[in-house]
Amino acid sequence: MTTRKPKPGVEPEQAPALLDECRRCALWEHATQPVPGNGPRHALVMIVGEQPGDHEDLQGKPFVGPAGAMLDRALEETGVAREDVYVTNAVKHFKWEPRGKRRLHKTPAQREIDACHYWLDRETSDVVPKVIVVLGSTALKSVLRDAKATLQASMGHAIEHEGHVVVATYHPSFALRATEKETRERAYQAIVEALRDAHRIVARHRKER
Ligand code: URA
Repeated sequence: MTTRKPKPGVEPEQAPALLDECRRCALWEHATQPVPGNGPRHALVMIVGEQPGDHEDLQGKPFVGPAGAMLDRALEETGVAREDVYVTNAVKHFKWEPRGKRRLHKTPAQREIDACHYWLDRETSDVVPKVIVVLGSTALKSVLRDAKATLQASMGHAIEHEGHVVVATYHPSFALRATEKETRERAYQAIVEALRDAHRIVARHRKER
């Protein structure tokens, strides 16, 4: 992510230059480190998840735990190399609560999603992806800047949004954790289908350039 000076009239704490310095919400206090996006600067596909999990918080990279393994499998099935896509999260710090010795994921609040939109916005303007694949409802709300957006209404069709094409699908954690095997398989297939759609849109875009 490029370093930028705050705009005149904007308090520096509201416009931190570095993710490490971010205090726009309180999540940094209990996280090991912020987790920035990862991938080529001008990737045509950006994938946005919810927030780092336990593994990501410790390693400082997005999607390196079980959800990341599923995402990698889906990408491979689609014929898209992970190295060619930019992968990030709507929220850059791990939000968790203790359960015994474990740190359990807690869904970020809307105010935390809104606070972190500052970083997603910067990533989107740096990378300028053609397609943004949103994994799950937090990512969807953040990317569309619409707290009322739902996966149900947004899946199955591409959404034109601020010069990008947004393709919405389930979060891999949903496909991992659903109790019914059939639901898990259906969710996984929906993720693969969304990545295929992204691949097709990018291929069409390349031809037209
Ligand atoms: N879940 C996410 O949404 N993002 C990650 O980076 C890991 C798990």
